[in-house]
Amino acid sequence: MKHIFKQGTNPAAPVLVLFHGTGGTEHDLLPLAAGLSPESSVLSIRGNVSENGMARYFRRIAEGVFDLEDLVFRTKELNDFLDQAAEEYGFDRRNLVAIGYSNGANIAGSLLFHYKDSLRGAILHHPMVPIRGLELPDLSGVPVFIGAGVNDPICSADETKELEELLGGAGAAVAVHWERFGHQLTRSEVAAAAAWYNEQF
Ligand code: MLT
Repeated sequence: MKHIFKQGTNPAAPVLVLFHGTGGTEHDLLPLAAGLSPESSVLSIRGNVSENGMARYFRRIAEGVFDLEDLVFRTKELNDFLDQAAEEYGFDRRNLVAIGYSNGANIAGSLLFHYKDSLRGAILHHPMVPIRGLELPDLSGVPVFIGAGVNDPICSADETKELEELLGGAGAAVAVHWERFGHQLTRSEVAAAAAWYNEQF
């Protein structure tokens, strides 16, 4: 998968794995990672599905309606890629913290839903429930930050609560931060995620 890897200065710090929103690139969230943990290594991955030229991590049938077969396939592909990247770059596969926005938060959520120990923690900005009817792996000890909008037109407040319950039901320690700027990723949400990260790691 197309990606950027930046070696950090502290090998014990979590490796930040970045997932952009629809139509974004692997460059988009680099400033967030630098603000969050400047000493961390960073692996920023470009979604390898194209929707009319816009990069995404899995196909969708319409806005908010996912192609679940593709979601499952792409989640496995990504999990395998993380295994390979850990070998290639020599980082600890068990020490990954994801930062995702929108479609990128959805694929990070899907990693948590499908694979135990795929992520040590996650910051999900405006995620949806990636897939329903799945038995989640044990997520005990996995902290998850969800940044949500009370008036997010893409992910309703009810869906955010459903996601919180699903992850929490699997044992994850979920913190939800509410904003009122629709689907936007605001500075205050980024600051709340940073405060949460500093408490957790
Ligand atoms: C998705 O397709 O993952 C969500 O609708 C959010 C987005 O527009 O990327």
